[in-house]
Amino acid sequence: MCADQLIKAQRDQLIAILGRGSVENFESILDHLLAWDLLNWEEYEYVKSPRLLSSSSRNLLDIVACKGTRACELFILVLEDVIHSSLLTNLILGNYKPPEKTDESSASPSLLASQTLQKHRPDVVRKLHGRIAAVLELLHRCGHFSKYECVEIHLPIYTPSQQARKLLDLTKAKGDDTAQVLLDYIDSESGPIKSVLGNVCLKYQEKLSSTLAAQSRFLTNYAGTENMCLEDVYVDCILEISNTTGTNGCLRRLIGLEDIFGPDGILNKDAETVLITGEAGSGKSTSLQQMQQLWAAKQAFQDFTFVFVFSCRRLNFIDKHISLEMLLFEHCCWPDHHQDEVFQYILDHPEEIMFMFDGFDELKFQFTDEERHCSPTKPTIALNLIFNLLQGNLMKNTKKVMTSRPSAVTAILRKYLQKEMTLKGFSPEGIEMFIRKCHSNSSSAERILYFVEANPALHGLCHVPFFCWIVSKCHEQLMQNGSDFTPTMTDVYLLILEHFLLHFTHSSQGMNEVLPSQVGAILHLSKLALDGLTSCCYIFSAVQLQEAEVSEEDISLGFLVHSHSASHASSVVNNRNYEFLHITVQCFFAALYITLDDDVGQSTLYSLFKPRQKKTSSFMMSATCIEGCPFYCHQSPEQHENRSETMLQGAKRSNLQITASFVSGLLSGRHRNLMGKSSLIQKQSKKYKLVKKYLEKSIQKHFLSIPPAVGGEKKSMHALPEFVWWIKCIYEMQDSDLAKQAVSKLEVDHLKLTYCGIGPVECTALAYVLKHLKNPVGLQLDYNSVGDVGIEQLLPCLNVCHSIYLRANNISDQGVSKLVDRALGCCNLQKIALFHNNLTDACIQNFAKLLIHNDNFLALRLGNNHLTGAGAEVLAEGLKQNNSIQYLGLWGNKIGDAGACAIAAALEDNTSMLWLSLVGNDIGSRGARALAAMLKKNTVLEELCLQENSLVDEDMLHFAEGLQNNSSLKVLKLANNKISRKGMEFIATALKHNITIASVWRKPCYCRGDSKNDQSRKKIDILIKILKKELCDL
Ligand SMILES: Nc1ncnc2c1ncn2[C@@H]1O[C@H](COP(=O)(O)OP(=O)(O)OP(=O)(O)O)[C@@H](O)[C@H]1O
Ligand SMILES: [Mg+2]
Repeated sequence: MCADQLIKAQRDQLIAILGRGSVENFESILDHLLAWDLLNWEEYEYVKSPRLLSSSSRNLLDIVACKGTRACELFILVLEDVIHSSLLTNLILGNYKPPEKTDESSASPSLLASQTLQKHRPDVVRKLHGRIAAVLELLHRCGHFSKYECVEIHLPIYTPSQQARKLLDLTKAKGDDTAQVLLDYIDSESGPIKSVLGNVCLKYQEKLSSTLAAQSRFLTNYAGTENMCLEDVYVDCILEISNTTGTNGCLRRLIGLEDIFGPDGILNKDAETVLITGEAGSGKSTSLQQMQQLWAAKQAFQDFTFVFVFSCRRLNFIDKHISLEMLLFEHCCWPDHHQDEVFQYILDHPEEIMFMFDGFDELKFQFTDEERHCSPTKPTIALNLIFNLLQGNLMKNTKKVMTSRPSAVTAILRKYLQKEMTLKGFSPEGIEMFIRKCHSNSSSAERILYFVEANPALHGLCHVPFFCWIVSKCHEQLMQNGSDFTPTMTDVYLLILEHFLLHFTHSSQGMNEVLPSQVGAILHLSKLALDGLTSCCYIFSAVQLQEAEVSEEDISLGFLVHSHSASHASSVVNNRNYEFLHITVQCFFAALYITLDDDVGQSTLYSLFKPRQKKTSSFMMSATCIEGCPFYCHQSPEQHENRSETMLQGAKRSNLQITASFVSGLLSGRHRNLMGKSSLIQKQSKKYKLVKKYLEKSIQKHFLSIPPAVGGEKKSMHALPEFVWWIKCIYEMQDSDLAKQAVSKLEVDHLKLTYCGIGPVECTALAYVLKHLKNPVGLQLDYNSVGDVGIEQLLPCLNVCHSIYLRANNISDQGVSKLVDRALGCCNLQKIALFHNNLTDACIQNFAKLLIHNDNFLALRLGNNHLTGAGAEVLAEGLKQNNSIQYLGLWGNKIGDAGACAIAAALEDNTSMLWLSLVGNDIGSRGARALAAMLKKNTVLEELCLQENSLVDEDMLHFAEGLQNNSSLKVLKLANNKISRKGMEFIATALKHNITIASVWRKPCYCRGDSKNDQSRKKIDILIKILKKELCDL
């Protein structure tokens, strides 16, 4: 029977089906018929005019029947597309196979815009879904639709598809210009247009997308204790796509999450699974959550009609046999109606389906391709369904994206991977963005950022998003313990430990309960860590793990990760190697072993804390250790102790220092009760006393080694590298008696810690200890990375400093304002040097205040900052009211003439300033004249440095005059100006009348008289002679 006869024969049933069906279905059929030109516009308007659906259906069938067999064939095609198959099964149509519709969809360039819209009407209706408001706004803005028309179309009584159709109908009525605007908008929205969804599928899509949106809205952390809105905290991670290129290793590129299905990095084009690997906490689950959000909010992945998301951890719990339909509907999202219809759509449109599997490593069983399962309806175990989905045996042509820690990726699985990507965590900018997002209060974000950035170990950790979150979070948490509570590194790492354990045990207990319950695993891992450190071993083979009794369960705590650092070749051979998440985490575990294990005794502790003697070669030592001593062998406690002690000598010094700081922290009163065992507390107290003794002794020995001061100079100590480490250990111990004791015998005038890698963390420790000094010292911290946060950390010890030197320490106005605020109350502090930082005029008010307030202040050096004339003017106000300052250094700023004039005016009557440097400050004639005039009045200034300015010969005339009337200046530095012979002659003449001046620098190699203060006529003559000789050379 041909199509027109079929329709005629089944007319009654067809009318009944269409009449009882939904308006949406009916209109959707009309869309297709219009698109295929089976209906002209008049016919369409006639059929859709409001009347009973059955009567409209009758009219439609009449029209279609009149149009011949081909029209009827296409009509049947549409029916099958739009109406659910179960409704059509009673019709002969159900068995009728209409001829394939020829593909006429490619746009013909000769079509008018309105014709194009009509030709693609079903797709356009779909595309407009969710964008009606935006399109109406656009058309209104361009003057095509009136406000009233927009409101009318957007009435909530219409479904989104109906609104789209009304919009299209009005566009058609308005003409081609309007149609073009709409077409342009549609073209600008990327993505291919999918097949038209029936109402049932649309409903399911809506339900699925709201389910996924709700599921992925909040980010649950490891402990599950806090919910953060993903949108508020999400930061893009570095996603690296690797393309193995044979012998040349891997080419790596970065891509965005939205591009993971793109053509980049395809290794196997027949496979359909994209794998994202990443270490624990690198953001895999969060990235999938973000993908869900993007899809549900229609911001990306819109080629997919349905997205099904599964947590592998949860799939483990499905213990009965299930079919694919059950998996999708019962374990992801249940369709409220017409399940069969929805499922059929899914089966029929696999290219519109995406599956997400999070945490493949968490599946109970390893991937296998042994059991083939192709039936979408036959039940099997859930894992088998997943494995077959991944292989493409089931639901071929769907897209699959899966995340896993690298350890679970086997060679068999790789056969089915289309591509593999690695999530590398946050970039440095990402860390900053994340911390700012987590802390709405910008000043606390700033504090944490400084804290993190200034501490390389922490900053390194923060590239792992999970650590970043913990560090950021726990910093805040620790601060909440009270305003005088200072967090130690041990506090931070213990918090990391706690979060991992809570995540692993899914428990909501506190640290005190969870830690004792996992003590076995901790001891296994910590022994592995210590033995690794002592033999410089950071990557552990399966054998080593076995020997250390580290079980799979211990590994799954998450501190050990699959090792990547081995070379390509060795990783192929030996791909089950593990390493600690981070070297500092290994140190932390080693420290846990040292503090918790009964067999670790005095000599191990001693060798951990003692200063290292120069060894023959640490490499040799570690090599011997590794060869001569198997990684694990059975030993008596004594042997064990001897071995640990000997082997500590082989460990890297920096790692031992970190370990020692953690040991100090873990033994501190704060953490000694970690395991809640009284016997352990006793042993730890003993270890604590030992460590305390070593630290005290080491520091005092260091002090004793300081050579005595020579020839009237003050005693100065240049700290040994170990000094800062010991100080940090004391800080970790949080024992103020120890701090007091440690520095009680320090009798130096100057403590030099230049180039010692001092950042805020070290500043905290330094201040903690140095505040107990008996006598004030000069604290020289030049060329470190103290920063504004470090400054704040130093404040507690500012009163025991008579001078503080902070050259080149990345300090800005903010830090300075805190420093000076505190300095106002510190009567001992007399000198501040801040050469080469980031200071601007904004901080000068603080110094002016300091000058006015502190009448014993002696020296201020602000060279090589960003000060201008305005800043110098403010400073001059302070200078006017100060009569103690002797040294002022402003070298390398830009104070210009205005600044020079202000300073000069302030110094006219000054009675204390001995030395003034205005080198390299853009000073010209006006400033020079003011300074020269100041010399006439000033009676105390001994040295004036004016090199590298723009002084000219005429200015020297003024200086000559100034010098003739001055009796205090001994040194005038004028090198690198624009002064010629003529200018120097002015000076030479003036020197005949000046008996004080001892040297005048004109070239970088200055000419000078006798340096002694004996201002004899004879010496001046020599000086003039030298000057004259120089003039002849010119
Ligand atoms: N892109 C991100 N933006 C903001 N925070 C993130 C991001 N990625 C991860 N995080 C933070 O790190 C935590 C851990 O991330 P996530 O659970 O995604 O890691 P994972 O790689 O799945 O770890 P595991 O291997 O243990 O499953 C999150 O709870 C969140 O606090
Ligand atoms: Mg995860």
